Amino acid sequence: MRKDYIISSHDTVDETAFVERYWTEMWDKVADRGQHARKIENTEEYRAIETYIRQLPASAKLLDGGCGLGDFVVYFHDRGFQSLGYDISRKTISLLQQRFPGVAFQDGDIRKTGLPDADVDAYYSWGVFEHFENGMKDCVTEAYRVLKPGGYLFITVPFDNIRQSLRAAFEAPKPFDKRSRFYQWRFTRAELAREIEACGFKLDRLQPLSKREGLLRSFMHDFGLPGHWLLTRGASRALAPIMPGALIGHMLLAVARKPLN
Ligand SMILES: C[S@@+](CC[C@H](N)C(=O)[O-])C[C@H]1O[C@@H](n2cnc3c(N)ncnc32)[C@H](O)[C@@H]1O
Repeated sequence: MRKDYIISSHDTVDETAFVERYWTEMWDKVADRGQHARKIENTEEYRAIETYIRQLPASAKLLDGGCGLGDFVVYFHDRGFQSLGYDISRKTISLLQQRFPGVAFQDGDIRKTGLPDADVDAYYSWGVFEHFENGMKDCVTEAYRVLKPGGYLFITVPFDNIRQSLRAAFEAPKPFDKRSRFYQWRFTRAELAREIEACGFKLDRLQPLSKREGLLRSFMHDFGLPGHWLLTRGASRALAPIMPGALIGHMLLAVARKPLN
């Protein structure tokens, strides 16, 4: 597992408080710019789990752990599922509750949800379990508890792909910056499998996602090309489909099942 750091002007020492503040500010900006409306069926995450979702009963309960702006939650609600969005950002959840009064949103920490045991049929979480320096065990353990036997866990976390490993091996150490703080973990396939299986899940699938984003980051960080250039974006879009996920996938998806007994 590899750590990523960010430079932060926040002087908050408490990690949970930092995560909440960081994402609240992020969602404030994105919501202001009105950029949050993703078409869910077109997302790589949805396409990767679609076959599992189609097998769920019509009354299934789905939990989004770390729902951000809640677009998946609203989508599953509109499809008739019992859909619950859960996020640590109180302000974001409060805005979502006002904007979508018929949809269930709850604020809190996914490491301690307070939901009953065996409450949900499927638990999905995109880009959340990696944000705590002591690891993802508390997130996975809680997911296991709230899932019904036979229920599915779908998560994505940052992928420690081949490009990242090579970069880390050859990169000169960065000068110490006292504003730098832990941001997230990055996982290889084997590391993510281990984390999930250690909590009792049976792993069904691991799959690199977000090749276009991974290639864009390579152009920016390995070749110094500005990410907003049309050329950089166009090349990422054109070349990503023919490149291996193991090399440039930005995220890693895991699908796992809680055993029936
Ligand atoms: C990278 S964003 C992903 C948001 C959303 N899943 C998406 O794909 O757009 C991480 C989200 O997880 C939330 N989060 C981080 N740690 C959390 C925790 N322990 N409990 C609940 N939410 C958390 C953040 O507030 C943020 O909304």
